[in-house]
Amino acid sequence: MNQRSPTGNPRSTAANGKAITAIYPGTFDPITLGHTDLVQRAARMFERVIVAVAANPTKKPAFSLEERVQLARTVLGNVPGVEVCGFDSLLVHFTRARGAQVILRGLRAVSDFEFEFQLAGMNRKLDADIETVFMMPAEQYYYISSSLVREIAALGGDVSEFVHPAVVTALRERLG
Ligand code: COA
Repeated sequence: MNQRSPTGNPRSTAANGKAITAIYPGTFDPITLGHTDLVQRAARMFERVIVAVAANPTKKPAFSLEERVQLARTVLGNVPGVEVCGFDSLLVHFTRARGAQVILRGLRAVSDFEFEFQLAGMNRKLDADIETVFMMPAEQYYYISSSLVREIAALGGDVSEFVHPAVVTALRERLG
């Protein structure tokens, strides 16, 4: 840690002094305040944070890749050092192509650990130079997940505590 962000917080640099870019991958169907909280924390630590929205067709997302990217851009548009893009390739290939050194993932509860352990291990096997870093969102977001938010919205519940107003509107239009 030997560089400072515009807010005066220290930011990570690699051993060679190069500023670190982190990729924050996920399906973001849709982006929640838990994701936003993690991005804001990461933006204070890393020179650049790329929110990488995975096409992930096997999850059959409610929003198209373009819609998920657009919503994330709307929500995160004002966070300095953060950009949003979509990808449909192998995560480690995308990470390398963007010149990033770190894959960032959120850990909310012990239940997240098993899948994250497997994902990090496999990504390390595929590219040993890329490091996975875990961060925890603020505790009020531990129990949020995109699928729960979609379910609550589809059943007419109020999701405004969990997602940005633009996402509330998009959910209302998509899920009724
Ligand atoms: N706040 C709130 N919710 C969070 C969260 C946070 N900080 N962090 C994760 N979540 C939730 C998400 O909302 C999501 O909820 P859902 O499953 O109910 O929709 C869940 O945790 C996990 O989603 P996410 O973090 O988006 O991960 P994912 O499992 O959907 O995506 C990828 C995993 C995209 C990273 C993985 O599929 C991938 O790398 N794909 C690219 C292809 C590839 O390289 N495959 C080989 C990997 S070895």
